[in-house]
Amino acid sequence: MSTIILGIESSCDDTSAAVIRDGVLLSSVIASQAVHEAYGGVVPELASRAHQQNIVPVVHEALKRAGVTKEELSAVAFTRGPGLMGSLLVGVSFAKGFSRALGIPMIEVNHLQGHVLAHFIREEGEESCQPPFPFICLLVSGGNSQIIRVNAYNDMEVLGQTIDDAAGEAIDKCSKVMGLGYPGGPIIDRLARQGNPEAFAFSKPHIPGYNYSFSGLKTSFLYSLREWVKDDPDFVEHHKEDLAASLEKTIVDILMDKLRKVVKDTGIKDVAVAGGVSANNGLRNAFREHARRYGWNIFIPKFGYTTDNAAMIAITGYFKYQDKEFCSIDMPAYSRVTIK
Ligand code: KG4
Repeated sequence: MSTIILGIESSCDDTSAAVIRDGVLLSSVIASQAVHEAYGGVVPELASRAHQQNIVPVVHEALKRAGVTKEELSAVAFTRGPGLMGSLLVGVSFAKGFSRALGIPMIEVNHLQGHVLAHFIREEGEESCQPPFPFICLLVSGGNSQIIRVNAYNDMEVLGQTIDDAAGEAIDKCSKVMGLGYPGGPIIDRLARQGNPEAFAFSKPHIPGYNYSFSGLKTSFLYSLREWVKDDPDFVEHHKEDLAASLEKTIVDILMDKLRKVVKDTGIKDVAVAGGVSANNGLRNAFREHARRYGWNIFIPKFGYTTDNAAMIAITGYFKYQDKEFCSIDMPAYSRVTIK
């Protein structure tokens, strides 16, 4: 008999549902929330309200596109955390009610583990190219920047992580300082393609070991910009491509320097990247360059699986289903948690 998992993701500002049958993706629906654009960042209260409006139609659409009825589902997998509490509660409560009504098991998923396991999402008729265990995964998103040793689907070890801001958060904040839109990542990415990455130099952190820090870069960017704008009020408008390219290069260099160190020390040359920032063109190119230069086997996710999505929650749920890792209805959401 087939195993059919409904995945639900609502940790931040995307309401998403996906259906996976026997490890193969049947549908994935994402409702993004444009309401935050006017505020230059996610407003938690508005996010949870939008999730409330979106969750039922998004799940309905995912089932419809998959050609699957509710009664055919084997289990419901959902993001338990980390994320915004008000947002998480919508998905968690929905999953509890849904599984109870259908009499099927619930599977809690760590959002970060989901990002890493996005590499195992398979689509119908597609050649699968999945990283072999163990591999190293650079997980870079709006809330996290971590280097993870992935020993198995359910065995991950964080080797290094940011001690302050995440890479995506730094990009978003610098974009905000420049008066560009939200989220800043895709905008900086687009502008950077036309700019000179050597035009400006920003400070890089000196953190021991495999950890990251991005708050100094953010401050250095802000202070430099303030000085430049004193001399030329239209400085950003005149230099936005070069600013974006230089910022992107600095962040990519910081990320890759530590990653190279980990690969050298562990001897593991199978290297993946995951999370929203893995959509970035400069970072993807740096991975390709490292593959050429250092003989890494690299794994770069499809664009659709970089930012928050329920397909990654459903595939993680599928693996947990094999191990009968179900959870009980009294299980709470958690806003902060790391990979175990
Ligand atoms: O994984 P994600 O959707 O949410 C979290 O779990 O945090 O990541 C969102 C982050 C945001 O900071 C966004 O600006 C960044 O990913 N991002 C990008 C790009 N697309 C999204 N950063 C750089 N380049 C991109 N193309």
